[in-house]
Amino acid sequence: SVLIVDFGSQVTQLIARRVREAGVYSEIAPFNSAEEAFHRMKPKGVILSGGPASVTAEGSPRAPQAIFDSGLPILAICYGQQTLCVQLGGKVEGGHAAEFGRADVLIHKESPLFDGFWEVGQKYPVWMSHGDRVTVAPDGFEVIGTSPNAPFAICVNEAKRYYTTMFHPEVVHTPDGAKLISNFVHKICGLAGDWTMAEFRATKIADIRAQVGKGRVICGLSGGVDSAVAAVLIHEAIGDQLHCVFVDHGLLRMNERQQVEELFRGHYNIPLVVVDAEERFMKGLAGVTDPEKKRKFIGAEFINVFDEEAKKLGGADFLAQGTLYPDVIESVSFTGGPSVTIKSHHNVGGLPARMNMALVEPLRELFKDEVRELGRELGLPEIFVGRHPFPGPGLAIRIPGEVNHERCEILRKADAVYLEEIRNAGLYDQIWQAFAVLLPVRTVGVMGDHRTYDNVCALRAVTSTDGMTADIYPFDAAFLSRCATRIINEVKGINRVVYDYTSKPPGTIEWE
Ligand code: XMP
Repeated sequence: SVLIVDFGSQVTQLIARRVREAGVYSEIAPFNSAEEAFHRMKPKGVILSGGPASVTAEGSPRAPQAIFDSGLPILAICYGQQTLCVQLGGKVEGGHAAEFGRADVLIHKESPLFDGFWEVGQKYPVWMSHGDRVTVAPDGFEVIGTSPNAPFAICVNEAKRYYTTMFHPEVVHTPDGAKLISNFVHKICGLAGDWTMAEFRATKIADIRAQVGKGRVICGLSGGVDSAVAAVLIHEAIGDQLHCVFVDHGLLRMNERQQVEELFRGHYNIPLVVVDAEERFMKGLAGVTDPEKKRKFIGAEFINVFDEEAKKLGGADFLAQGTLYPDVIESVSFTGGPSVTIKSHHNVGGLPARMNMALVEPLRELFKDEVRELGRELGLPEIFVGRHPFPGPGLAIRIPGEVNHERCEILRKADAVYLEEIRNAGLYDQIWQAFAVLLPVRTVGVMGDHRTYDNVCALRAVTSTDGMTADIYPFDAAFLSRCATRIINEVKGINRVVYDYTSKPPGTIEWE
């Protein structure tokens, strides 16, 4: 295994991800408990992360001396490089122009770190993000890569197998970074690369058992991949100590509730309470047209319903959530910052503050595609695992204007036809999200010699890797006209279909 010592970088989890991609098990330990983790894990190599501090500041974090005494290989990134240099007798100074973004590194000498893809005398793009810099390397170190603003871009001690970079190999903006990390773990640490999601599953099951003991866990299912995978994993760990609650707010997609019931009760035999709360939600949404008011009401009402159910079940010691790593970074980097609220997001994640329970979040280190892989590993059907993301407030934010049962029904039908066409065309997995929107506009049409005056439906489909930015999916005209014809013919209440051609930014993915 590899120990990753965390100095607080925003991207430390990406290092873990790259190590996993190389088929090697890793654990992240904060710098101040890294020594304990090091002795417990007995890793074959150590990676020191970046971090926001300045090594020149008094009391700034350091790597445990035991790591240097062990003689194991080290890869030290950014802040990690600086603390390593200082701890081994080199010098770091602040006050240089901070460097952020792309730089080109010129390679001066061969190294097993980039063996097989970087050549001496060539330049390669990397991503920098730092203020301080090394000015004197420790004894035994040699600079083998430089950029105009980073004279110590790559500085190594081959005899000791210490590799330090001023840039971040873990981010995608360093195009060969994954290969650097792969070389470090395979060629330098000598690890085999045979670790798999199956082992992640086993490790997490052990962790969950250790955390929960004999306690009771309650888990809110949303119908989406993340909460389903978390619940199935936790159930595998602690069986019927887990209780799942699924709130049907009447804003779900076609057959979604049935699919959840079938999966949990039928397939896995996991205790599940389904709350039929449609009436409550529709009542509260009556007359509400402002998007933020809708979102806030749904978020708050969801918590009310969930709380009531938890009490009926006799309470629980833990709340399980399918929080993913991107949720963790977003909430960290956006808290307290000057960023503007575009939308108040509601998901099951709003619960913990109110419910005052300890959290079980077994997916916290994973990215969406890894959760899907874990879901497959756990035997979840493809219909769940590959499913497009769906927002917590559900169809309510796809019905601009007032929401009611009838409008939800119209939208559900149109959405189902659209998705069926997408699946039939084999396009579902190429699209991040596709859905229909029911507009609060009626237009005139003619059907079978009769005048119609009905609703407009908009179709949306986007590609994206994380939902933060998105581009429209370029369907061909024949496909779109097939969808339009089917929707108008099959869904009573819709007589016109339009396609949304807006990327994000400037649009958002959802309409509200
Ligand atoms: P926007 O519309 O902000 O959406 O571009 C980005 C991604 O987030 C989803 N989304 C939500 N997910 N609760 C959620 O769990 C919400 O309140 C929410 N609002 C938007 C959206 O579907 C897209 O994938």
